[in-house]
Amino acid sequence: MKIAILGGSGKLGQAFAARLRQTGHEVAIGSRDPSKAEEAAAKAGRGVRGMTNSDAAQWCDIAIVSVPYAGHRTLFESLKEALNGKIIIDATVPIDPENIFQIKTASGRSAAEETAAMINGAFVFAAFQTISHRVLRQLDVSHDVLVAGGPARKPEVLDLIRSMGLRAIEAGSLEIAGHLERMTVLLLSINKANNIKESGIKITGV
Ligand SMILES: NC(=O)c1ccc[n+]([C@@H]2O[C@H](COP(=O)([O-])OP(=O)(O)OC[C@H]3O[C@@H](n4cnc5c(N)ncnc54)[C@H](OP(=O)(O)O)[C@@H]3O)[C@@H](O)[C@H]2O)c1
Repeated sequence: MKIAILGGSGKLGQAFAARLRQTGHEVAIGSRDPSKAEEAAAKAGRGVRGMTNSDAAQWCDIAIVSVPYAGHRTLFESLKEALNGKIIIDATVPIDPENIFQIKTASGRSAAEETAAMINGAFVFAAFQTISHRVLRQLDVSHDVLVAGGPARKPEVLDLIRSMGLRAIEAGSLEIAGHLERMTVLLLSINKANNIKESGIKITGV
């Protein structure tokens, strides 16, 4: 499959590219700036392409999104047609810039639910909120990835995550996305309280 990482030039995007290039899927890094996309793709390694977010959204079967919440609405508003009917895996965490231990969105709902409202013909999932980019880059280690979204096309998302050497955990419907986004700020608080950088979540009993 063709997997685009929108906002892929950033910290989490580069970690996604590192994992995805081992899967056999075709991978493209998207950026607002084509030269930045090319640069990030070259850094990610052979086989990864660089293109604008818009071209990557057109090209892909599945779009993984890793942009700061400040750019989330603008990005999706510009990609409504390109992403219609596609799978979107949204890793955005809408951290409140005034208090990094809280989330805050324009609508009061999760960022992923805002995505689904903007691109209503897409299959939207929230995932990866609880994994730090540094941890994701430890390519030989499996981690739990909590996935929220409706049943349609979810098996493809779970399979993609498994192909990345990660354990996909079914977390429920998209209305659970806000809990995943809040888990990130919980982890940030745990990091601060313990003077560490990468606490994570492991689900037992599944
Ligand atoms: N970092 C983590 O460990 C981690 C873990 C879980 C979830 N997340 C979430 O994933 C998202 C990305 O995190 P990150 O750390 O990778 O962020 P980042 O490095 O700060 O930014 C990612 C990319 O987003 C693009 N971008 C920045 N501002 C934008 C805007 N206003 N509009 C559109 N695109 C913009 C930039 O790409 P171009 O300039 O190339 O367009 C940038 O390289 C955030 O929502 C974050 O909360 C991060």
